[in-house]
Amino acid sequence: EIEDVEVPVLVVGAGPSGATLALLLGRHGIPVVAISRHKGTANTPRAHIFNQRAMEVLRDAGIEHLVKPIASTKDEIAHVAWLHTLAGEEYGRVYAWGNKPNLIGEYLAASPCEMSDLPQSVLEPILVEEARKLGADIRFSTEFLSHKRRSDGHIVTRVRNRVTSEEYNIISQYLVGADGARSAVLASLDIPIDGKQLDNAFNVYIRADLSRYFAIRPASMVWILNPDAPAWSSHGSIRMVRPWSEFIVSMHNAQGNLNFEPNDEDILKRLRQMIGDDSIDIDLLGHFRWTINDQVARTWQRDNVLCIGDAVHRHPPINGLGSNTCISDAFNLAWKLAHVLKGWAAPSILDSLTAERKPVGDGIVRRANDGMLVHRRLWAFMGSTVAERAVVSQALQSATSDGMRTRMKLRSIIEETDDEFNSLGIQMNQTYVDSPLTVVEQGDRPPDLEGLNVMKKQIVSTFPGFHLPHVWLVRDGQTARISTLDLAGHGSFVAFTGIGGEGWIDAASELTSEGKVTVKAYGIGRGLDFLDAYWDWEKVRAVEEDGLVLVRPDHFVCWRCSQSCPNPSGKLREVMRRILGQ
Ligand code: FDA
Repeated sequence: EIEDVEVPVLVVGAGPSGATLALLLGRHGIPVVAISRHKGTANTPRAHIFNQRAMEVLRDAGIEHLVKPIASTKDEIAHVAWLHTLAGEEYGRVYAWGNKPNLIGEYLAASPCEMSDLPQSVLEPILVEEARKLGADIRFSTEFLSHKRRSDGHIVTRVRNRVTSEEYNIISQYLVGADGARSAVLASLDIPIDGKQLDNAFNVYIRADLSRYFAIRPASMVWILNPDAPAWSSHGSIRMVRPWSEFIVSMHNAQGNLNFEPNDEDILKRLRQMIGDDSIDIDLLGHFRWTINDQVARTWQRDNVLCIGDAVHRHPPINGLGSNTCISDAFNLAWKLAHVLKGWAAPSILDSLTAERKPVGDGIVRRANDGMLVHRRLWAFMGSTVAERAVVSQALQSATSDGMRTRMKLRSIIEETDDEFNSLGIQMNQTYVDSPLTVVEQGDRPPDLEGLNVMKKQIVSTFPGFHLPHVWLVRDGQTARISTLDLAGHGSFVAFTGIGGEGWIDAASELTSEGKVTVKAYGIGRGLDFLDAYWDWEKVRAVEEDGLVLVRPDHFVCWRCSQSCPNPSGKLREVMRRILGQ
């Protein structure tokens, strides 16, 4: 029998959520074991759109410089188009992912990071390697079997090495289920999952030089709407994995679940039909079926077992929210676990995982599934038989009122995908205003969201529960500008104040010197640590110059105070006690 392993945190799963959590815990200096039942990282590209929030997390974790150079750039994912075949007629296209000319500035102003595209199969090895460098013990081919709670509250998890078939126990203070859409950890907690599994789709991974058709219209994906397709693949998309040589071709059917298993010949025939250019050589690299889900777990935790990622939220890839949300889940949980394990916070702060992240999960699952319906409406409108399509095609160019209506209808359905491809808000507006970990001063009010399209527009606010606004600052005229987000995070609470707020800075360093939590403090203003050279901080901070904005290690504002006070040290101490549950 293999000896028991003891570790503060056991993570089940080494996908985007588990590996990010292991990496972040490593940064906090918390020993972690992460297990994965697979023999290695993702062997298919899977999630790929990489949004700004997710990159901010990796920037905080110190690996943006490794990820950014190998990601496809914002320019390479500038469009999404709808085509008869890849080589054939185009029905229309939209700008996507921060490339719409009138929105470029909004994306640029929102974050120090850019939209990009990085397949999971490329991201995961980096997360795992960097986590290991920080001491994380990541064990592949190791399966979670069961867990039980010991009398001292520790969790005893039974695992099996799938290579040797040996079983052993891992004993941890916390167990995190980051084990994906078929989470055994969630199942073992008997937590109900709301929603349902919908139909399935079929993905084919290919190598083919499609530059001729993509370089003219750089796109993360194109939808192919050709009629007379086989029922198991009535509609499909060609999604760039590496420009413009590797692709995932997703094949959807319009009729619900179909269990037909196509062979290589069926697949190649369909690929040729979708591409519409027989001179293209196609290498089949693999194929797999996946389920379209509409599900959120009712709670994400029970005692010292917590779940994140696809274990608790499952949805189609619309809006590209899959691994991005997993990475943000991990960022939310990592600092809390670290602060509890260091004895700096009460275990009760972990209860905020469900309170803060489940509303986010509910929101993204709804959005992704609503977005899927738009595609289905378009498929139905365009018709899937040759005869139906001929009628639509004819109408699209006819000088009749029916033709005009058909053209307007096509445009209006495609414009509905704006909520998918040009929604800065859906990725940036995750807020925790109802969280138990925020302190709101009497009389302080959240921003007025009445009439604001919070899905489309980013909301910038320092009200507790909002994400710290990104603003460029300069240290002096001689160094590169630095984002407020670069000053925040990195495992610490951070306090921002200005001229006249020296009392807060002293209070923060006094608290930090006691060794029970780290609160870094920065003065922003002439003669202080950073110059608000563009006056952008002044516009967003919403407190007086001598006021304070306090930010959690995961970049969320947890308290703001409009001005200095007679006893800043006592005040900051009391607020931190409330936030840390002590
Ligand atoms: P993920 O599923 O990635 O990882 C789970 C981890 O848990 C793995 O390491 C696994 O080995 C481990 N595990 C599971 N059970 C275990 C057990 N019993 N014991 C030990 N370890 C266990 N999203 C998107 O936005 N765009 C897309 O195009 C796609 N495409 C896509 C294709 C396919 C085939 C899949 C499966 C998924 C997608 N997704 C996607 C979804 C996206 O991949 C998903 O959101 C993230 O991978 C979820 O990350 P997690 O880390 O939560 O789970």
